[in-house]
Amino acid sequence: MSVTVRVPAKVNVQLAVGAARPDGFHDLANVFLAVGLYDEVTATPSAEGLRITCSGPDAGEVPLDRTNLAARAALALAERHDRAPDVHLHIAKDIPVAGGMAGGSADGAGALVACDALWGTGASREELLEICAELGSDVPFSLVGGAALGTGRGEKLQVLEVGGTFHWVFAMAGRGLSTPAVFREFDRLNEGVRIPEPVAAQELLDALAKGDAEALAAAVSNDLQPAALSLFPELADTLAAGRAAGALTGLVSGSGPTTAFLAKDAAAATEIARALLASGTCRSARAAQAPAPGATVI
Ligand code: C5P
Repeated sequence: MSVTVRVPAKVNVQLAVGAARPDGFHDLANVFLAVGLYDEVTATPSAEGLRITCSGPDAGEVPLDRTNLAARAALALAERHDRAPDVHLHIAKDIPVAGGMAGGSADGAGALVACDALWGTGASREELLEICAELGSDVPFSLVGGAALGTGRGEKLQVLEVGGTFHWVFAMAGRGLSTPAVFREFDRLNEGVRIPEPVAAQELLDALAKGDAEALAAAVSNDLQPAALSLFPELADTLAAGRAAGALTGLVSGSGPTTAFLAKDAAAATEIARALLASGTCRSARAAQAPAPGATVI
């Protein structure tokens, strides 16, 4: 008997970053959109305690110890329900690793839902969301999917309406970027600058609600983009290549280094992905639609 959960990647269509807080985190206005690139987490009973395995092109870069968010999710649920974390978690990885697309967060949310179903824990949605928020700022959104505004560290979610399908292309970079390093670079670049309170842009929320790709393209923003470009200047070439191929807009996804391009339709997305790959400015390029559902048992 085993349980498999499919969990989407995300792109941040707006990432407004406030000043560093005393706890080192930053207050955000983070508009998440789940996209149709998925990891699958399979939980199977194990006689030898907690075990993690991973498959997929980037499997070698995924830690298999207790720093993996999937492991931490299983341990957190087992501890709360006073049971042994005897589970084998297999991650079939398709979301880029250290890419700014919440791949690690997806695995945490997926493992939590999979263990809850396998163990018959019967945790409420509120409890699952609470554990997700303890695991990381982006993990609650991986559970919920669709589109949502995240405030606080990004973990307090308000579900958003999406009125249509958006066609995206993602360009994967040749190396990863560490999220804490990008936030540190944000702090360094903004030293001495008065940073306003982060707020979600109304035009952006309206564009999502209408399903209007051109309006969304005009409204997207990412306050971490200058920091990601400062640490990874070659990303400017990828952004230029995607725009030259007809993207309505291009931006760094979250803390990067994956770059995200909005296309006017599915045919344009296929062409942008082809041109990005041919440009030699990225490792791979994939088209994906949004919104996608959150963590789902399959
Ligand atoms: O919450 P999570 O573990 O995903 O955050 C990873 C790192 O990203 C944090 O340690 C912090 O450096 C940075 N971060 C932040 N402000 C946020 C979210 C993350 O500074 N709102």
